[in-house]
Amino acid sequence: MKYDTAERLIWFKGELVHVNDAKLNVLSPTAQFGLNVFEGIPCYWNDEEKQLYAFRLEDHYRRLLRSARLIQIECPYTPEDMKKALIDVVRANEYRENISVRQTLFVDGFGSWGSSEPVEMSVAPIPRKCISKEYNKTGLNVCVTSWRRINDNTVSPRIKCGANYINSRVGQREALRSGYDTCIFLNEAGKVSEAPGSCLFIINDGRLITPLITDGVLESITRASVMEIATIMGLDVTERTVDRTELYTCDEAFLCGSAMEITPIIGVDGYKTGSTNITEKIRKAYLEAAAGNSADLKKWVTAIY
Ligand SMILES: Cc1ncc(COP(=O)(O)O)c(C=O)c1O
Repeated sequence: MKYDTAERLIWFKGELVHVNDAKLNVLSPTAQFGLNVFEGIPCYWNDEEKQLYAFRLEDHYRRLLRSARLIQIECPYTPEDMKKALIDVVRANEYRENISVRQTLFVDGFGSWGSSEPVEMSVAPIPRKCISKEYNKTGLNVCVTSWRRINDNTVSPRIKCGANYINSRVGQREALRSGYDTCIFLNEAGKVSEAPGSCLFIINDGRLITPLITDGVLESITRASVMEIATIMGLDVTERTVDRTELYTCDEAFLCGSAMEITPIIGVDGYKTGSTNITEKIRKAYLEAAAGNSADLKKWVTAIY
């Protein structure tokens, strides 16, 4: 029963409740205007240790609080409270598999887009096999979408809030309509930014290149992890502005994110990407680190049990 997602428990406004009993006011600012900030926190089951590890928990809570600050909602919880809620709800469900935990601060009550309280929290574990299709592929056929990425002067991509995902949605829907798995956005300046729910790296001559955060990119925890892992592997990593045509000529390219993990891109707009050699090495190293198997990177994981 606990593996049936319709039967799971979630942490909702301070209590552990059955997911179908977590009732939200349809007029609340979160329901009407997407007035919420959230994190998708990956947790990996380590079968040898019989342990579930949450990946870079403190970094997720730091970003959650930055997002809340930027849209001016007060978080009534400390990072310790948030961590306790996550551990409690995952333990209550007895999950012993890879999961993603959606931890959300939302504006409840009757209000408008200008409201800032009451702020409530939900923490919902989601088994990995139940997340969106494009996150469980071994290679991605992508397009450059005709939609532009949101920018720091309209709705900042730095803020991980529900409403920002309408931009992700229009790009993703266009990609699916055209027969692609997902898309890459260009920013207002016409330079490469990121995908709807993940960041991008290209690889040329063994060197990794990723767009700048200031080119319209979420401050991704996986992107930062890849940069650190690649550096440990002795690979050169550069953050710089990337042209669209570089997507068509690179040796390798991949998307990365908490849900995406590290997934190779096999083609962009019909231009085939060459190999996946280095991408595969990075993918393996990332998954080892996330499952708590890397002694040097054990600092990144928190044991749930
Ligand atoms: C738009 C966007 N970019 C990048 C990412 C990757 O961020 P992270 O690695 O922190 O999951 C995500 C996922 O959260 C995202 O939604």
